[in-house]
Amino acid sequence: MDRIKRAIFICIFFGSLAVTAQDSELILFETKNTSLVYSIDQQHRLVFQYYGKHLNDISAFGFRKFPALSKTSRDYSCEAYPAFGSGNINEPALSIIHADGSITTELEYLNHKQEQKSEDITRTIIHLKDRISGLFVDLYTEAFRNEDVITQWTEIINQEPNPVILQNFYSSFLNVKAQSYFLTHFHGTWASEMTLTEEKLETGVKIIESKKGVRTTQSDNTAFIVSLNHASAENEGECYGGALTWSGNYKMSFQVDEWNFLNVLGGINPFMSAYHLAPGEKLKTPKMVWSFSDTGRGQISRNFHDWARKYALVDGMSPRPVVLNSWEGGYFTFDEKTITEMIDGAARFGIEMFVLDDGWFGNKFPRNNDQAGLGDWQTNIKKLPHGINYLADYAKSKGLKFGLWIEPEMINPKSNLAEKHPDWIVQSLGHEKLTLRNQWLLDLSNPAVQDFIWNTIDSLLIANPGISYLKWDANRHVENVGSTYLPADKQTHFWIDYTTGLYRIYEKINSKYPEIIMQACSSGGGRLDFGSLKYHHEFWASDDTDPLKRLFIQYGTNLIYPPIATAAHVSTSPNHQTGLYSPLKFRFDVAMTGRLGMELQPKDIKGADSLFAVNAIKTYKQIRPLIASGDLFRIISPYEKGGWASLMYVSKDKKSGVAFAFSTELHNRGQFLTVKLNGLDPAKKYKVEEINRGDKLYFWGNEKTFTGEYLMNAGIDLTLSKQFDSAVFKLTEID
Ligand code: DGJ
Repeated sequence: MDRIKRAIFICIFFGSLAVTAQDSELILFETKNTSLVYSIDQQHRLVFQYYGKHLNDISAFGFRKFPALSKTSRDYSCEAYPAFGSGNINEPALSIIHADGSITTELEYLNHKQEQKSEDITRTIIHLKDRISGLFVDLYTEAFRNEDVITQWTEIINQEPNPVILQNFYSSFLNVKAQSYFLTHFHGTWASEMTLTEEKLETGVKIIESKKGVRTTQSDNTAFIVSLNHASAENEGECYGGALTWSGNYKMSFQVDEWNFLNVLGGINPFMSAYHLAPGEKLKTPKMVWSFSDTGRGQISRNFHDWARKYALVDGMSPRPVVLNSWEGGYFTFDEKTITEMIDGAARFGIEMFVLDDGWFGNKFPRNNDQAGLGDWQTNIKKLPHGINYLADYAKSKGLKFGLWIEPEMINPKSNLAEKHPDWIVQSLGHEKLTLRNQWLLDLSNPAVQDFIWNTIDSLLIANPGISYLKWDANRHVENVGSTYLPADKQTHFWIDYTTGLYRIYEKINSKYPEIIMQACSSGGGRLDFGSLKYHHEFWASDDTDPLKRLFIQYGTNLIYPPIATAAHVSTSPNHQTGLYSPLKFRFDVAMTGRLGMELQPKDIKGADSLFAVNAIKTYKQIRPLIASGDLFRIISPYEKGGWASLMYVSKDKKSGVAFAFSTELHNRGQFLTVKLNGLDPAKKYKVEEINRGDKLYFWGNEKTFTGEYLMNAGIDLTLSKQFDSAVFKLTEID
């Protein structure tokens, strides 16, 4: 066995055995279809070599020569975790003011250990140390074999005699070489989250970031896709997916440098976030999640979904209940009768969970609009004289579970809490406390505030054992930042300490109440990231419930995040956000591609529509396992010109599937659509059944049997033609 192979063999089979630089020149991280390779050079620097398609033989990286470049006395070889001061002239992953005032950091490799955490996960810890000082960095990498995902993060440890100040402390770095690079990212705003945009990266730095502290994914998401050499395509081309498991300020930096390498950094946003570490203290950075595919972004998406369902979502494989949420059906205006009638209507439809949204609390400062009550989490006895548990019991008597909305990070100036604890409000002393949606933010960097929120939720759940779902909302971001709790020299810790404080509360809820379904909502999709999803079962993708708009929002969302967690509700027509009319079938067909729910006043759905809703929910329950754990194949993007959209889910064993097709515009006479299905087994035979039908059949081959080969190559010809025509097909293998 040659040296390199021997080293790898030792790593894999002897688990946590440390292998020093002397024994090994290469460090390999492998998944089923990808390899990530680092080397340790003569100067003991950890060098980024390769991340891409799986390689059987990596030995050449042991003697690879990078072309010498005039700009630096070293060759181009790029550090795997580049620090400022070690010859790196691009944006550094790490920059530190050391205890002695030095701003130079040179990380050298000490040793590493690799351990098999499970059949799926290999964890590698690489120990690095500044050459001069007592500053250590442990670089953690986990390779998820079956999901083709790699996660990476660091622990930065101060063993210097005095405090150090961390300036840049990204989680992970990627260095790639291609002719050109195309970045897909997801920007937006309220009611328009996760809007897909793709741009060519030119020389210089492109940044995606949030400095909002809260609601950090409302205007751009931490997730992205980088495609090499051409714009990303669903089924072809080399591309990388990245996402950060963090709900606070983040920054993704994409630098095309003077040698046309792309350098990607992902992590906590260093903006106004200098972090002090006393001797002996350490900072753990959030995990960055990566995936590589040489067959297009569709595979990245499926890898992320598989990984998330297994590792980054609570109970990721179980189908979620069908929900009726009260918000658009009543807003703040309701009483007990309104709610019990809504529950009656929900029961008639076959809904499984009723969620009472905003407006149920506050007495001295009743929550009758968005101007008062936040912070006072006592049931409003005027609206709901018998309390919350009475409603939960009522729902139970009708066969439904019961959920409740909360927004515990927030406080209205008009509240008992604001009178009692003005010091708990995020504020910059001496400056006006700016409100947003008439509310302030509570200072979660303060442990007393964390305790208050935890105790509030705990008491609520103890007093109302009928609650089995919490919708956690957050309707503002941070401005006038400052904490009365943090000392003057640690005000810049606010951003990180807020987010870790939030996670501490989530953890307590998850561990004491593991059976409670948690929904992440933040004015819609403002907290849609793998950091928050770890504590939630689902997220509210957007306050825009218009099905046309939702086709776009859900397209972007599900490129990264799993459909089973994507709450999608059928609301009334005309839509409250857009004012547009759409047929009930179209609304259902769109919402059925995710976690189906309704958000309207059930008694407004009458006659034939009511029967349609009952049947649609029945149908959804049949296809729900496919949406929950099947593979998603996007067939036609709503972003493409043409006025169509189509996607499908296929079970892992390829025995069944469900396909959706939508007409988003009026088409010229005779311009029908042929949809070439995807993801099926060409050799299998499938019966195609049109389901969730209105009065029309759109496929001539309904109930006929076709080979997978035919369906994927010839496709199914559909007579969709008007705007809002839509069709759904169930595919079942026939032996
Ligand atoms: C914003 C959320 O996104 C809505 O669904 C609703 O819960 C409102 N807040 C309530 O204030």
